[in-house]
Formats: sequence, structure tokens, C-alpha cells
Amino acid sequence: MTRWSDAVGDDSGERYQARMAALAASGQAMHGEADFVAGLVTAGSRVLDAGCGTGRVAVELGARGFDVVAADVDASMLAVARRSARDVAWLQRDLAAVEPEDPELGGAFDVVLAAGNVIPLLAEGTEADVIRRLAGCLGARALLVAGFGTDVEHLPLDEVPVTLEEYDDWCAGAGLILRERFLTWDREPFEADQGYAVSVHARRA
Ligand SMILES: C[S@@+](CC[C@H](N)C(=O)[O-])C[C@H]1O[C@@H](n2cnc3c(N)ncnc32)[C@H](O)[C@@H]1O
Repeated sequence: MTRWSDAVGDDSGERYQARMAALAASGQAMHGEADFVAGLVTAGSRVLDAGCGTGRVAVELGARGFDVVAADVDASMLAVARRSARDVAWLQRDLAAVEPEDPELGGAFDVVLAAGNVIPLLAEGTEADVIRRLAGCLGARALLVAGFGTDVEHLPLDEVPVTLEEYDDWCAGAGLILRERFLTWDREPFEADQGYAVSVHARRA
């Protein structure tokens, strides 16, 4: 059981989609993650949306011409995603078991994206292994991009399960180094204790 399913149950897809739709209707910008990826790599690049949920980011990236594979373990989230776009490859996969050689992944990626608190919502104790597996999906000059909350105001949890220090350590263990870190998907400068971080890791040279 992931921290996500523990927090919201295994039927959260429609509720999550409704919440995202309400945010969009209120005028909130919904595509910061897609803009961020588009600033890193050119359209047509291969992107793995790891923990894609209902496809909010994957659908937008697909519409912008990226070659997107999107994976999530939660069937209810994927059911919503699958009706959203046909030009995205939707895969039900547990990131704690994902195999970089999985033929349905289709080879190495230019960007592996873990957006929307995926890292702190993994099952407890699986984080280092998941990051090692995601790192295995990266091509030679590819990037691992993750955005997540570092305080409870930015998480759907009662406590903070993952610190940035732990995340950087797990990345280091997977052969990755921190290349850039921002406070927001809009690239505001990172400030510790502001509750959120967008981290870009690359393979160690
Ligand atoms: C808050 S949702 C974010 C969804 C999407 N990335 C977004 O930004 O809208 C977190 C997602 O992480 C997924 N997740 C958590 N642990 C996972 C795992 N081990 N394997 C695959 N997906 C996982 C959950 O199922 C959930 O869909």
C-alpha cells in the first residue's frame, strides 16, 4: 500500500479529477510542470510521467508533442487518465517494481518526472529502490525531475515523510547529482523552509 492509497483510499480517481477541474475553473494555472519540462528538453523528447495519477501533466505534455509514457499503480487514477488522451501510453505499474527494460516503456527517457508529491507518497521504505529504478530509466544526458512538499501544508499527509537531504542521498545512491533546485515549477529561487522544492538531478559524470 502506498502512502497515497493509505491517505485517500483506492477509489480516488474521480475525486482527484474533480478537485483538479475545480482548481482549473477557479483560474489556477495547471501546467507549471509541463512548462518546466518544456524548458528543459525539446518537444519530441521522451518523458516518463512516474506516478501520473489522472494524467494532468502527461496529457498536456502529449498535446505539446512530447513522447509520453505515463505510469501509476492506482487503477482508479489511471481509469480517469485513460479516457483523457489516446496519444499517451498509460501503464499500470508500481514504481517499486518497475523494470527499465520493460518493453512497454520503450527504452531510455530524456526526462523522468515525479510531479505532485509522488516521492513522499510512495510506500514507506521503498523510496531508495524507486529512485534507483527511475534512474535506470534515464538516458545518458537525461534528467530526473521531482516536485514535492517539505512541510505538511504542501502534503496530503499529517507528517512529512521525506526530507530533501534524504531525497538527495537516495539520488546519490542511484548515481545522480543535484543539478538545480527551485522553490516552484515557475523556477522561483529555492528557499529552505518554504515548504516545496522542485529538484533536477542528472547522472554523475
Ligand atoms: C498526488 S497524486 C499526483 C498525480 C500526478 N502526478 C499529478 O501531479 O497530478 C500522486 C500519485 O502517485 C502515485 N503513486 C504513489 N506511489 C506509487 C507507486 N509506488 N507506483 C506508482 N504510482 C505511485 C499515486 O498512485 C498517485 O496517483
